[in-house]
Amino acid sequence: MITLFGATGYTGRKIARELELRGLPYRIAGRSKERLEQLSSTLPSRPAFLVADAQQSETLPPLFKDTQLLINCAGPFTDLGEKVVQMASFAGVNYLDTTNELGFVYRLQTYHQMAKTNHCFLLPACAFEIALSDVAIAKIFQKHPVQHLYVVYHTPQTNISKGTRLSALRSLTTSWIGFQDGSWSGVVPAGKSAQFSFSTGNRYAIQIPSTEIFSIPWKYPVRNVEVWMTVSREWGFWGPVLLPYFARFMRSIAGKWIYSLTASRRESVPEDDQNNPFEILIGFREKTEQAWRQARITGKGPYSLTAKIAGYAAFFSLKSSSLPEGLITPSTLLQPEAFFEEMHSQGVEFSFD
Ligand SMILES: NC(=O)c1ccc[n+]([C@@H]2O[C@H](COP(=O)([O-])OP(=O)(O)OC[C@H]3O[C@@H](n4cnc5c(N)ncnc54)[C@H](OP(=O)(O)O)[C@@H]3O)[C@@H](O)[C@H]2O)c1
Repeated sequence: MITLFGATGYTGRKIARELELRGLPYRIAGRSKERLEQLSSTLPSRPAFLVADAQQSETLPPLFKDTQLLINCAGPFTDLGEKVVQMASFAGVNYLDTTNELGFVYRLQTYHQMAKTNHCFLLPACAFEIALSDVAIAKIFQKHPVQHLYVVYHTPQTNISKGTRLSALRSLTTSWIGFQDGSWSGVVPAGKSAQFSFSTGNRYAIQIPSTEIFSIPWKYPVRNVEVWMTVSREWGFWGPVLLPYFARFMRSIAGKWIYSLTASRRESVPEDDQNNPFEILIGFREKTEQAWRQARITGKGPYSLTAKIAGYAAFFSLKSSSLPEGLITPSTLLQPEAFFEEMHSQGVEFSFD
């Protein structure tokens, strides 16, 4: 049995539909009985539901009863995720989420040993961008002893959900982490911009705090990891000037007010994002090399792919007889070649130098 927590949100609903398509046994969970009831009535298998609130820890234990896998979509994870991970690792229940909040993922090291002792895995960031790049990076490392690596995300037409917006604000506020010269250090986010070459032309990008800053060094002996996100030409210029101040501002009382204002805004994002293209560049260099090599991933529909990836990982973790333990990255669970094939069937293309 799978328990899908945060099922009533934008991503949760998409994952529920994916679990239905795959015919996997699951139940839904969230903080509102009415919204869960309503969601269940629209899903073909009419899944059972559980009411649990991430901010009321006494309501959480039932999430971990009679379940092999907890899929968590209740974000921002910086505020709502840690107790859920802690309980999963204590209960020995496999855990998967859709975060890309670097500070949150970094803190999960604390639960690595507990998860190993209780024979379960903790898999944060099993969402479109991190999962795709993580599996591609695993393939690169099979061939090259990479020391320097960068990842650039280009998602030009994506309407981001409110949940993503709130997570980005929390990440900007709390994820002040970089990885340089073989160690993690404190870095104010978004302080640099650069240009990168995509199939549609050159684009400006700013440096962002993204999960790879933790997950790549967690797995491989690298020296430097940088993650970038494309922005307009104007933001390429103003971003590194303004965003580090904005990140500092978000740590003040006034920042809490901005966050509450964003959280209270009603906004709807089109359910179908299948026509929104994306391109991911991965640059890598071995110790002695001067020139960068590149891998490239292209596809469409970032949110729909997040649901496909979570559904595939859920299928894999229920069917597989031998599962990893402890804090892992997507490529530890998902075998690269099978994953590439699965993603290829969803229109995702991978190319390697
Ligand atoms: N990395 C990626 O590519 C990627 C892709 C998709 C999503 N995400 C992340 O996934 C998360 C969800 O995104 P979304 O777009 O689905 O956001 P959303 O539509 O705002 O959904 C948030 C979900 O969390 C639930 N929730 C909020 N507070 C809760 C609490 N105290 N206890 C239990 N549940 C609570 C909400 O319940 P209600 O319905 O009751 O409000 C809702 O189900 C975000 O953090 C986002 O950044 C990442």
